[in-house]
Amino acid sequence: MSELSVFKWWQRGVVYQVYPWSFMDSNGDGIGDLQGIRARLEYFTWLGIDAIWISPIFPSPMADFGYDISDYCNIDARFGTLADFDALLADAHRLGLKLILDYVPNHTSDRHPWFLAARSSRDDAYRDYYIWHDPAPDGGPPNNWLSEFGGSAWEWEPATGQYYYHAYLRQQPDLNYRNPRVRDALLQVLEFWLERGVDGFRIDTIHHLIKDDQFRDNPPNPDWREGMPPHRRVLRSYTTDRPEVHAAIADMRAVVDQYPDRVLIGEAWLPFDRLMAYYGSDLSGLHLPFNFQLINARWEAAVIAAIAREYEASLPPGAWPNWVLGNHDRSRIASRVGNAAARLAAVLLLTSRGTPTLYYGDELGMRDVAIAPERVRDPWEKNVPGLGLGRDPERTPMQWSPATNAGFTRGSPWLPLADDYERTNVEVEQDDPNSILSLYRALLALRRREPALAVGDYRALELGPDIYAFERRHGDARFTVVLNFARESRPVSTTGRVVLSSAVARELPSSMTPSSPLLPHEGVILSHA
Ligand code: NOJ
Repeated sequence: MSELSVFKWWQRGVVYQVYPWSFMDSNGDGIGDLQGIRARLEYFTWLGIDAIWISPIFPSPMADFGYDISDYCNIDARFGTLADFDALLADAHRLGLKLILDYVPNHTSDRHPWFLAARSSRDDAYRDYYIWHDPAPDGGPPNNWLSEFGGSAWEWEPATGQYYYHAYLRQQPDLNYRNPRVRDALLQVLEFWLERGVDGFRIDTIHHLIKDDQFRDNPPNPDWREGMPPHRRVLRSYTTDRPEVHAAIADMRAVVDQYPDRVLIGEAWLPFDRLMAYYGSDLSGLHLPFNFQLINARWEAAVIAAIAREYEASLPPGAWPNWVLGNHDRSRIASRVGNAAARLAAVLLLTSRGTPTLYYGDELGMRDVAIAPERVRDPWEKNVPGLGLGRDPERTPMQWSPATNAGFTRGSPWLPLADDYERTNVEVEQDDPNSILSLYRALLALRRREPALAVGDYRALELGPDIYAFERRHGDARFTVVLNFARESRPVSTTGRVVLSSAVARELPSSMTPSSPLLPHEGVILSHA
């Protein structure tokens, strides 16, 4: 065991993302809250989770559901109070759970006092907290930069005769991170929460933090086609992934490093060759730049194997990998690949080398919920309708039980429940050994028991078409993970004792002999003790 102590909790452990609007409502207002999360903490220990990351819970007009913050150092009344937060954190720690907060340094709400001051006059002391620019000679926006949520990224402010830049909604003005006062103010936000005892941060959209100081036009995207999100018409060359971002991250890391054993995770939607720089030179950057490749990947063995190969080959020495299967911005895994393959995905997520992040409800097999037009809440869907960009479908309430509203709220839920919640819920699935929830719990327990599956070395294996297979090894322990991506059975020439299978029908323990078939969509973990 002692040699395992060289690994940090965020390397050995599993992170679970809580979307606070939808996890558990304690006061009947139809929106989840901190007391609700607190009441459900034992679910995480029962399931076998190590850390929870909670999406933004700070005061916000909620134009983008909390990613538009009007006070970085408080709790939105919808979710509770600072006292509720402290109680949640204390209880989590008592249960051995880590707690990670969302950190949104790229932009504030347009109701943040900094922005209210900044927009009041060109001479205001806070003017330079944001990115202002004179109009182009024709009076239009200064350049062709586009908002991720549709339209120009520049908003005209008649009162002061300039435009301000917003990478997302116009209610989310981008901060001017080049201003040292902004940087210091934002670093103090980290300190505020670190002093309260949080175990780390997931940094929102970190690749956007610095924009080109010459405001050059972004080049057109030659691959843009009708049906793609409109902001993709241009490449984000001058608005994202600017070289100066790495110094900014190193500053954040230096603050976090003043506290023992904390983690910095970052959201940057970039290909591996760009993403690796986010570990920082000499690993002085993010501990875990999110690896989102599974979210975008075609569900084929060869594709997944190639992603793992490229990832392992790109990681800087000593950098720790991680894998994400779903989040609050993308279609759920069960909807992307189907219910049967979602079980295989669970095995993939929890046996790949690196820290897994699990999105709430995916462990139940929750699916995207179709949202009637009158119930749409997501501003992206409202701004750019009809392209299927809306994110409400993957944000519907957690399904706890077959009771009314799936036990999520005694009021009326802010988003509709899935039709299948009477079957797909914690209470029903925890008693069913064949449920996906039982599979997740078994995988998490096995991973905890067998360090090879959490921190062991990784070696890819070639076991045939439609099969992605790899070995995990730690000390004397050796496991083979064999994943059948086909809808049909596939013979596999390998041997070993099957310690876990994702298939509902397989009797365990059993042995595989050369050319035993794997069932459709089956994933197995073989032990070679
Ligand atoms: C990424 C977040 O995950 C997403 O939900 C949000 O809309 C944008 N960043 C803007 O903060």
